[in-house]
Amino acid sequence: MNLKDKIRVVEDFPKEGISFKDITTLLQDGKAYKRAVDLCIEAVKDKEFDIIIGPEARGFLIGAPMSYATGKGFVPVRKPGKLPYETVKYEYELEYGTDALEIHRDSIKPGQKVLIVDDLLATGGTILSTIKLIEQLGGQVVSVLFLIELEFLNGRDTLKDYDVKSVIKY
Ligand code: PRP
Repeated sequence: MNLKDKIRVVEDFPKEGISFKDITTLLQDGKAYKRAVDLCIEAVKDKEFDIIIGPEARGFLIGAPMSYATGKGFVPVRKPGKLPYETVKYEYELEYGTDALEIHRDSIKPGQKVLIVDDLLATGGTILSTIKLIEQLGGQVVSVLFLIELEFLNGRDTLKDYDVKSVIKY
């Protein structure tokens, strides 16, 4: 099964010139979704980690089934105002304005080995911010795994100090 065939490419979404990789068509095909998660697990089989962390929302769709399959816990990173308990926040620059991500303050113990997962690596900004939150709490990022990598955007350069893996490349 070629997983790329299951991903729908939508031109000019969310704005002109963007060729959006829509994974909903992959997710709705049970065999394809299972295969995608299995390949993600395979990609990090030589890595030792205590916990999986994924950013909202599509990171949950990859991270949660990996968590179930590996028996490791899952920690969500969310957009501001969504997490109910004490959080730490990291603000980052966008082309226009800023955005931010939050994590629960007690979600990672110092020294814990963390695997970060997300559906897609574009510029790497989301995951660099996620890394800042994890490191602020004393976590150690052992690997960063993406289902999809847009190689032409060079997100790996942003994450050059970390082990980066991806399953499907464009
Ligand atoms: C998308 C995607 C990644 C991120 C990649 O999420 O799921 O998390 O953008 O872009 P980057 O590498 O340039 O940071 P989005 O912010 O659209 O949120 P969503 O998953 O809630 O749709």
